[in-house]
Amino acid sequence: MNCLSVLEDHRTVREFLPDPVPEEDLRRMVHLAQRASTDATAQLYSFVRITDRRLRQRIADLAGGQRHVLEAPEFLVVCADVHRLERLLAFRGVEIATIPHLAFLFGTVDAALAAQNLAVAAETMGYGIAFIGGIQNGPDELVDLLRLPRGVYPLVGLCIGKPARRPERRPRLPLEAVLHENVYRGYVEETLEIMYNAMAPVSPTGDWLSILRRYFGRGGRMASREDVVARTLARQGFG
Ligand SMILES: Cc1cc2nc3c(=O)[nH]c(=O)nc-3n(C[C@H](O)[C@H](O)[C@H](O)COP(=O)(O)O)c2cc1C
Repeated sequence: MNCLSVLEDHRTVREFLPDPVPEEDLRRMVHLAQRASTDATAQLYSFVRITDRRLRQRIADLAGGQRHVLEAPEFLVVCADVHRLERLLAFRGVEIATIPHLAFLFGTVDAALAAQNLAVAAETMGYGIAFIGGIQNGPDELVDLLRLPRGVYPLVGLCIGKPARRPERRPRLPLEAVLHENVYRGYVEETLEIMYNAMAPVSPTGDWLSILRRYFGRGGRMASREDVVARTLARQGFG
């Protein structure tokens, strides 16, 4: 498949065959991840490959007991990483600037671009992937488990393996909802309604709001993560 078809055909895979990912395939994916653009050549990210079963089990538990975290043949933790940059500079006698906010911004953007490159490379090679934001339930524990030094923050997990089942392709918002011209266009009620209708098939009951509310509404899942994420970011030297 060419790149455009791979992107068009993307869907998150949550059921994997047990077949291991050959080492050369994994290394090729990581190599292609590294080909992503990177701000100021710095490459402010790291991947931590989790091969230890007990560690994987703990991470699956942290992520709310997601079985695919445990069962995927490969699982990576994608991290924003300014620790390596700090070491490189210090090695040549240069002190890193105090830029905790920018460091997190650059690290997160760099890591996301590299991780998406890796995901697309994997899909092009016939693998399925699932990003795992559930690790944000316990980033502090993950910092301890993976012995992440100050300057490194675990952003998201990534499951990789041959799909046992390919789910339905999920909808997206209409293109006009995300593409603005020159200035940001606000959203009138009619457009909001169109967006809910476009996204309705994402839930079996045709109710996108129930998903958004569960995650992002007051008292929802994301709110319960806020404090520990803020604490761990500060502990790791960001913000
Ligand atoms: C940052 C991020 C975190 C995610 N976290 C999870 C997760 O914890 N568990 C999961 O099964 N899927 C997770 N996903 C996958 C999304 O649920 C999925 O991308 C979305 O529902 C759209 O479906 P699609 O990827 O099949 O098109 C995550 C995706 C992203 C980008």
